[in-house]
Amino acid sequence: MSDFFNNKRVWITGASSGIGEALAHAFASQGAHLVLSARNEDALGKVAVKCKELGAGMVSVLRLDLSDHDSIPGIVRNMIASVGKVDILINNGGISQRSLALNTSLDVDKKLMEVNYFGTLAVTKAVLPGMITHQLGHIVTVTSLTGKFGTPYRSAYAASKHALHGFFDSLRAELGDTRIKITLVCPGFIRTNVSINALTGSGDKLGTMDEATDKGMSPERLAYKILAAIERGDEEVYIGGKEVLGVYLKRFFPGYFSRLIRKARVR
Ligand SMILES: NC(=O)c1ccc[n+]([C@@H]2O[C@H](COP(=O)([O-])OP(=O)(O)OC[C@H]3O[C@@H](n4cnc5c(N)ncnc54)[C@H](OP(=O)(O)O)[C@@H]3O)[C@@H](O)[C@H]2O)c1
Repeated sequence: MSDFFNNKRVWITGASSGIGEALAHAFASQGAHLVLSARNEDALGKVAVKCKELGAGMVSVLRLDLSDHDSIPGIVRNMIASVGKVDILINNGGISQRSLALNTSLDVDKKLMEVNYFGTLAVTKAVLPGMITHQLGHIVTVTSLTGKFGTPYRSAYAASKHALHGFFDSLRAELGDTRIKITLVCPGFIRTNVSINALTGSGDKLGTMDEATDKGMSPERLAYKILAAIERGDEEVYIGGKEVLGVYLKRFFPGYFSRLIRKARVR
């Protein structure tokens, strides 16, 4: 990789574990300055120490709850006052779901939208005016392959990720004559705590590791591929194993895909 990320100011949400942590390490090893956000400050502190060891510039920890939308503009204002500007925003924080739609309470449906969709919008809307002022910036949002097609056990999660595609496709079009870039990253199965932290129909955490997630791509490999996509300025990328084929099957053989996905009772 070139020195593309050296001295860039990168803000990562969901940086306390999994994909966000791996992204923090990858940016750190490229000499980026980092702001690391999530709710768990102890975990963020450990990621920050490792990032310094890996060669990051300035590293700061910024506690942020994506479901507390009213707090976000003030938190971002204070952060920008101390950091200056955000060159790259990585919208990564989120929660998944493991429950049939029939067994999922409306409160859980709302919670998934509040964190994954409205939380991401609140962060983006707080950062965007600064990017427009500087006429520079890159907003990267980690959605999911379930942002391209729905699967069993993920109804509200897939809805929240589809909603992000609608929002960011519109925003990209609106920003067409600026130098601000939008990248949507759609991972498949990635070996993180995502299933352990996923919500069941009652709102409790699932608490167990899915087999498919356990056999998935490492977050480090995904992070490497995400940095490459950012550097290329890709608009949308699909990263994972053979599950990525689902995007193309749905696009070119929708009837066949619909029959296939009914059998995909993989949790
Ligand atoms: N792993 C996969 O297979 C996979 C596949 C496709 C997409 N994704 C997406 O990748 C992203 C990262 O997930 P992961 O796999 O790395 O799972 P993870 O290990 O569970 O990490 C989730 C991250 O989101 C943060 N988060 C959750 N709720 C939050 C809230 N209310 N406010 C602020 N931060 C919150 C968590 O931090 P705190 O708990 O400290 O707040 C944590 O840092 C998610 O958007 C997920 O949907 C994952």
